[in-house]
Amino acid sequence: MIKFLFIALLITVLTVLVAGLRITIQDSIDLTFNPEFQLSNSQNEEKRLIQTSSSTAEWMTEEQVFGLIRNKIKFMDITDYRSLGTKYKAFKKHEFPVTPAFQDEVMPLINNLTTKYMRKNLEKFTSFRNRYYKSKYGAESSQWLYDQVVTIVKNSNYSDAILSVKQFPHRWEQKSIIARFQGSDDDKSNEVVIVAAHQDSVNMWMPSFGRAPGADDDGSGTVTILEAFRVLVEGQFRPKRSVEFHWYSAEEGGLLGSQAIASHYENLGVDVIAMLQNDMTGYVGKKYPEAFGIVVDFVDPDLTEFIRKLIKSYAQLPARNTKCGYACSDHASWRKAGYPSAFAIEGAFEDSNPYIHTSNDVLDHLSFEHMLEFSKLSVSFAVELSHI
Ligand SMILES: *[C@@H]1O[C@H](CO)[C@@H](O)[C@H](O)[C@H]1NC(C)=O
Ligand SMILES: *[C@@H]1O[C@H](CO)[C@@H](O)[C@H](O)[C@H]1NC(C)=O
Ligand SMILES: [Zn+2]
Repeated sequence: MIKFLFIALLITVLTVLVAGLRITIQDSIDLTFNPEFQLSNSQNEEKRLIQTSSSTAEWMTEEQVFGLIRNKIKFMDITDYRSLGTKYKAFKKHEFPVTPAFQDEVMPLINNLTTKYMRKNLEKFTSFRNRYYKSKYGAESSQWLYDQVVTIVKNSNYSDAILSVKQFPHRWEQKSIIARFQGSDDDKSNEVVIVAAHQDSVNMWMPSFGRAPGADDDGSGTVTILEAFRVLVEGQFRPKRSVEFHWYSAEEGGLLGSQAIASHYENLGVDVIAMLQNDMTGYVGKKYPEAFGIVVDFVDPDLTEFIRKLIKSYAQLPARNTKCGYACSDHASWRKAGYPSAFAIEGAFEDSNPYIHTSNDVLDHLSFEHMLEFSKLSVSFAVELSHI
């Protein structure tokens, strides 16, 4: 009996010691290298409504959400966007072209694409400690990206009414960015074609302050569409229907930036004709021959068929079908809102970059030539879908 009491006492003492130790460790994190700890700790109390499939939603703490990222489970944070898709009014169905028809305009633009600016931009973009949407680094990288888009616009002779760029603010610090070529046809003034990527990155072990260069995810898509945008501006692109380039904030937070914008467009009644997501365009996998990965789940099948035709006409790589699951990237927000969206990725999903969401998602693992093929797709997507 005395022996039993002694063991019970020992266990109690040990438990108290361990608890004390844990508090000490947390204090030292708080004081030494995480200025945001207090903030994220207090936000733990505030749960978010999270979907990992179309039929379920669960309230989760921030720690639980980080657990999803660490386990590579894709999710949508629908807390603020529960009505996404409910106000969508059915627009007249737009048929996608049977075949690409603007080779004379597209080819010279494609010939002007270069890896030179992509490399230079991606070197700088990956030099921010991370681009996490709630960190100060994420706000700084977003401002830098905005300045690059503004510089391209300033170097052109477009009027503000025809080519514009703006920051789209959110309830967190990192802003999304929208650049717009105003369409020339007044009958199509409510219509828009969207080419997109996400600008944020994440370190799955330490989201707010860990190193996350995000070279491939999604620095690659960011510079892929920035280069497409550059040649369109230099080529005096003048679409009939408006074309926008979007760089979303907070994709890694659960498609937050794209949901905010898709929901805004849905509320305004904007008729989004087509949306193309570029998320990870730089890594050439080892399992299969080099190819575009064409995502076939949770996308618009007709638009997806059309991007296969664009690839055949304008790119030098074959296309391989792949699936990447629910809430895989920002195209999912547009699809949920009711709009046709498609997603091209660097290869088959199971053959994609294994270094993402770590400090090792760096330039050395990437091919700029591979990325350039995706710029060709973006240029042809913008031209072919905006003149018809
Ligand atoms: C801009 O300059 C180009 C020639 O570089 C010219 O063809 C075009 O008409 C100009 N556009 C405007 C809006 O002034
Ligand atoms: C290609 O780039 C050059 C400048 O580098 C420019 O003068 C030319 O107009 C561009 N061509 C097209 C089709 O945009
Ligand atoms: Zn991504």
